[in-house]
Amino acid sequence: MPRQLFVTTALPYANAPFHIGHMMEYIQADIWVRYQRMMGNAVHFVCADDAHGAPIMIAAEKVGKSPQQFVADIAAGRKPYLDGFHIGFDNWHSTDGAENHELAQAIYRDLRANELIATRVIAQFFDPEKNMFLPDRFIKGECPKCGAKDQYGDNCEVCGAVYSPTELKNPYSALTGVTPVLRDSEHYFFKLSDPRCAEFLEKWTQGSNPRGQTHLQSEVYNKIKEWLLPDEAGRRDLGDWDISRDAPYFGIEIPDAPGKYFYVWLDAPIGYLASLKNYLGKIGVDYDTFVNDPNTEQYHFIGKDIITFHTLFWPAMLHFSGRRTPNAVFVHGFLTINSGEKMSKSRGTGLDPLKYLSLGMNPEWLRYYLAAKLNSRNEDIEFSPEDFMARVNSDLVGKYINIASRAAGFITKRFDGKLGAVSDDGLALLTVLRSGQSGIEELYEDREYAKALRETMLLADRVNAYVDANKPWELARQDGMDLRLHDVCTVCIEAFAVLTAYLKPVLPALAAQVENFLNIEPLAFGKPSVAMGSGHSIGNYQHLMQRVDVKQLESLFEAPALTEPAKPLPGGEAIGPTIGIEDFSKLDLRIVRIVNCEAVEGSSKLLRLTIDAGEEKTRNVFSGIASAYEPEQLIGKLTVLVANLAPRKMKFGVSEGMVLAASHADDKSNPGIYVLEPSAGAQPGMRVR
Ligand code: 2FM
Ligand code: ZN
Repeated sequence: MPRQLFVTTALPYANAPFHIGHMMEYIQADIWVRYQRMMGNAVHFVCADDAHGAPIMIAAEKVGKSPQQFVADIAAGRKPYLDGFHIGFDNWHSTDGAENHELAQAIYRDLRANELIATRVIAQFFDPEKNMFLPDRFIKGECPKCGAKDQYGDNCEVCGAVYSPTELKNPYSALTGVTPVLRDSEHYFFKLSDPRCAEFLEKWTQGSNPRGQTHLQSEVYNKIKEWLLPDEAGRRDLGDWDISRDAPYFGIEIPDAPGKYFYVWLDAPIGYLASLKNYLGKIGVDYDTFVNDPNTEQYHFIGKDIITFHTLFWPAMLHFSGRRTPNAVFVHGFLTINSGEKMSKSRGTGLDPLKYLSLGMNPEWLRYYLAAKLNSRNEDIEFSPEDFMARVNSDLVGKYINIASRAAGFITKRFDGKLGAVSDDGLALLTVLRSGQSGIEELYEDREYAKALRETMLLADRVNAYVDANKPWELARQDGMDLRLHDVCTVCIEAFAVLTAYLKPVLPALAAQVENFLNIEPLAFGKPSVAMGSGHSIGNYQHLMQRVDVKQLESLFEAPALTEPAKPLPGGEAIGPTIGIEDFSKLDLRIVRIVNCEAVEGSSKLLRLTIDAGEEKTRNVFSGIASAYEPEQLIGKLTVLVANLAPRKMKFGVSEGMVLAASHADDKSNPGIYVLEPSAGAQPGMRVR
């Protein structure tokens, strides 16, 4: 019976393009999915944009878009990455889709019917300057568990602890920098402290699926058990989970709770089901039948930073709403580059996936390299450019591609493109190769890709040893050796087909090319290895894969030169041409106090400022900021003045300098104007340098 699988990767936040860390996860999952399909299993492989939450709402507001538009624009940029690296998701959806709204509300109602929802008034951080409750991600401080500095309000990136923002030590608002104040608000909670939850999770996290595989990797269980198991005093860390947020919020409304929305992490994993439902709708399969089928297996590939959400909250949400739980959650580590920093979602890239492609680098090199490093454990893996080049050039091209390139020409030129008879030594070699298949299948099943590729390369070594022992290029020059030449080259081509099958989950495009060149059916697993046989015609060999050129790697990691045309920034305006310090120092910028400010009769744009620049007398300055400020808002404020700008005669008087303010390039759709203010302590007359 073919298996029926539903596989996901974590849903990326729709606030930025992909970085290499996303690609690693997608490649890991994609390899597994391709392997499953080669086994004849049916797989639905889906993903979606994680659209909701305050950070996306705030980012959208900043660029003057609706959150829906903002998310749609990010989603529109996904395809070149996914297609470029042969990531074969069946469906890409959004957590803001109708299916997710319905499912999240349905799951919530089921949890509520099961008496696992509670409300409580809680004191929450409020930014008195911004006049809003601060989202977790906009409160920073020290982790209450490990003390790490500058951690977000919801969980710690260093120790993985999950907590509420009020538990942070020395909190500050990331929007304004002010110390937030506490305000009361009614919140909704998922009662994870209910003994039923603890009992279920203790079992589930240590449990196994019907295939006998544990739900969690042992190192993952070890990480979460501290939240789960009672301490000596019988206390558990697993408290109720706050699942509501107050308007304004971009999210899904909580039923019967006006002005309250689901916290993004409540509806995000439900997005897995929503994307599946959306997809099944497209292919005409009934969602409820599929998800309730006991034969449906559900797997999630995720990174180690989001373990708690997926191994505690998510299974509990599913179970207590009467739904089936995942068969396993597969956790991977981070990708580091040159032993550098972690390639986190929020920070750096280091290896820009689109730049990689634009340099003409083969996506399957990266797939191969990452696979050659990936195993089933939650361990970080390291991208080293030297190692990348060595593995691709020496192993992939040097050991594997070479087998075909050494033999195919003779088959075409000397034997009319037909394979010949194989004698015993060749048969023995092919038997060894073919007998490796079930072991390699198991390694893929267990996500031990590094081992699968190592096994495959060891087999390639044996084929190369056979080639070196038989030297087809010498046989070709000797009289009367045609039969042997045909034999040896046939063995090589048969071997190449077997090895290609073993690499196919990792190198799908290459495998398709090989299938075409060899005139064979799609290579598969779960049945006897490919054998073309004597008389089979193959096509003309065309070079299958180039070697990595060190120059490509150099360009890949080269920092963009300052003189390069600047990329548009999120605000839409490119950085101007480079200047020298001598250009800058021509500007005399001074701290000044706005001692008076008034509207200018006859102008809707200008305000008249009276400015104290620490000189004997005040200056008169006109500034085009009337759309953004009421005059009294500015009186008494410090700001920055271009003090040596030539006086300019205007319709309303002479302007003696210019006040600095920030704005968007296109001020029609982004009208905000923000006058600069120095940090406390600056005095009128000080020079800004
Ligand atoms: O950490 C993240 O990038 C989240 N957007 C992952 C969500 S996974 C799932 F729950 F949707
Ligand atoms: Zn911590």
